[in-house]
Amino acid sequence: MKPIKVGLFGLGTVGTGVVRIVEAHQEDLQKQVGSPIEIAKILVSDKHKARRFTVDADKLTEDPAEIINDPEIDVIVEVMGGIDLAKKTILSALEKGKHVVTANKDLMALHGSELLAVAAKHNCDVLYEASVAGGIPIIRTLIEGFTSDRITKIMGIVNGTTNYILTKMSQEGAAYEDVLKEAQELGYAEADPTSDVEGLDAARKMAILSTLGFRADVALEDVTVKGISGVSKEDILYAKRLGYEMKLLGIAERQDDLISVSVQPTMVKTSHPLSTVNGVFNAVYVYGEAVGETMFYGPGAGELPTATSVVADLVAVVRNLKLGVNGQRMFVPYKEKKLKTDEQIASKYFILLHVEDKAGVLAKITQVFAEHEVSLASVIQQPNEANPDAEIVIVTHDASKASMNTVLRHFEGMDVIRNIKSVYRVEG
Ligand code: NAP
Ligand code: HSE
Repeated sequence: MKPIKVGLFGLGTVGTGVVRIVEAHQEDLQKQVGSPIEIAKILVSDKHKARRFTVDADKLTEDPAEIINDPEIDVIVEVMGGIDLAKKTILSALEKGKHVVTANKDLMALHGSELLAVAAKHNCDVLYEASVAGGIPIIRTLIEGFTSDRITKIMGIVNGTTNYILTKMSQEGAAYEDVLKEAQELGYAEADPTSDVEGLDAARKMAILSTLGFRADVALEDVTVKGISGVSKEDILYAKRLGYEMKLLGIAERQDDLISVSVQPTMVKTSHPLSTVNGVFNAVYVYGEAVGETMFYGPGAGELPTATSVVADLVAVVRNLKLGVNGQRMFVPYKEKKLKTDEQIASKYFILLHVEDKAGVLAKITQVFAEHEVSLASVIQQPNEANPDAEIVIVTHDASKASMNTVLRHFEGMDVIRNIKSVYRVEG
């Protein structure tokens, strides 16, 4: 039986997983698609590098053209990462009529629409299940499973590295730098982990998920982003004391066709299922008007989990080949994108203030909230053991982002407020 030949771009964490799964599950894969799947050539940056998994040295190449120009190769799997070379490679492959599977969320968040349009022109597939939430089949779920519903909210813990860091800080009191190093060693973090810890990786994934969920072309620049580098042990302790867990949460909401998408450290009530998602695990919570609450949970990074999604896409491409239906785009955004203004974005907030410890201070602070129509759910004042100031912890009811920003600007000019220590969104 003629094998389906695959050109693999990248033999790092994910690429190694792809080779291992294709080898280990060959018999099952063959039964499912009717042909053997063969990894015919593999692009790496250094052929002579020592590798933890032995592959046939003849298959390795440092020249992308050797794969792109090989007429025998039907599908390319891009798991090398980066933008420029990956985009150029995928476009060349599509022009040669090769189908594409990629795990590259950076590329899909920035150039996904363009690549999908080129693919459709050449009757080719571009599948990218592994680009969001590693081993969780969330992309197919949003495209197919929710096709009959209207999604109004998607909340995601979609970055394994930061969830690993926050979990270890919360459960073991570990230091941020130590846990980040561990996440890098385990292959969870990006080559430059700044994109993990500053929220950019999660923002890219949320742009992809909200485009699919809201059926409007949400771009990376539509996502407001704040990472976890400013989260202190004290913030995490406060969160726990008040019944919350600190999570880097992607939040996409839609109301009357108005959309907002953000990524930020968020205090999640311990009664909410997202608060129990720990370590490198990811979860995507999806609220559909008809179905109500759903949540999809699993490993968000790592060799084999991510590779299962890549190989599942590979199987989908081969099935399409057998049926002669490649290039039929399963999803095209068709709704006009209308973004919410700061006046229209509402949420609860946690605010930690260091204030002068004297009569009347609390009254002055609550007065500012009242003037800007921010209603308070709880206010706790306690002495600060480290200095003569007092700490005031406030949790608000739903307030507009614009009102909260005005309140905070006002606080910055008040003598009695020594420091606006922390401000977090609250969910659940
Ligand atoms: P990685 O471990 O850094 O591996 C990258 C591979 O690509 C290496 O084999 C490297 O070659 C090769 N490569 C990189 N640049 C190249 C170039 N210019 N020319 C030729 N070869 C090049 O990366 P990874 O963690 O597997 O991630 C791959 C992709 O999957 C990225 O887009 C990432 O965002 C995405 N992803 C990763 C995970 C995860 O858990 N790691 C999860 C989901 C998605 P050498 O081996 O010779 O250095
Ligand atoms: N660096 C990413 C993470 C890899 O930590 O989630 C998976 O996309």
